Amino acid sequence: MNEDISKIANQIKSTGFISINNFLGKKNLNLVEKILSHKNLKGKDSTYPIFISQYLIKFLKMDIGILNKSLILKNIAKNLQLKAIAEKVFESECELHMIDSYYSERSDKDILTWHNDIGLRENYLTENFYEESEATLKNKKSKVSSRGIKFFIYMTDVQSNNGALAVIPFSNQVVKTLTSLILDRKIDLKPYWNLKNLRDLVIDEKNKNLISQKLGSEMVESFLHNTDFINQERKDSNAFDLEMQKGSAVIFDELCVHRGAAPKHNSRIVLRYLYRRK
Ligand SMILES: [Fe+2]
Repeated sequence: MNEDISKIANQIKSTGFISINNFLGKKNLNLVEKILSHKNLKGKDSTYPIFISQYLIKFLKMDIGILNKSLILKNIAKNLQLKAIAEKVFESECELHMIDSYYSERSDKDILTWHNDIGLRENYLTENFYEESEATLKNKKSKVSSRGIKFFIYMTDVQSNNGALAVIPFSNQVVKTLTSLILDRKIDLKPYWNLKNLRDLVIDEKNKNLISQKLGSEMVESFLHNTDFINQERKDSNAFDLEMQKGSAVIFDELCVHRGAAPKHNSRIVLRYLYRRK
């Protein structure tokens, strides 16, 4: 298993993500299906308590059911060695930051368009961006938590045009390098949460040279090539879709460029675990 952890972590470190079929295993899949009852999926209880303070709130509300469910989900995380995977990726101590079930109703609209999780969003405060980025890239202690590794475990089958997550390989490295150049005040900060804005920043001649000096021009050119679809009429591509069956997982660095396709044919259910550096 340790060899598996190294393999998984190494792929996440370089490519930014890995997809693993049948990640949960039959026994865990059955357990999770029982826990994520229909009521909990749509209702307020889609986040499971993990910290003592959260446990206390649930306890005071006499919501003992969710406490048991949370313990089972934490136990599954332990069996699957999620923390060890995250720690191997970061080469640093990590902690579980969130467990939730993510329910998306059948729809013709993308669950979330192409974006990365760390980039500044339009109309958002730059102070918060700097704090989050410094916590993520420089491990600076902050009240704002850093970006981490997300375990995205499908509880329904997904296909292209039906709930599939898509991830641009090696985009984590481009986003990470760009962010660190912004923190070093070598590149001016502009919004780059969405892919169009991110590309505009990367394609700027001065910025491109700076990023290429750190990453090599091949990786930067390949990123621009892979993401050119955002300038085309459809503004989307199915080339990076990860079609998977329930029980399978996509594990990805939140710095990757990703999108959640519209669940056009059926509603989508995902069990998510998020680990961040301690
Ligand atoms: Fe995201």
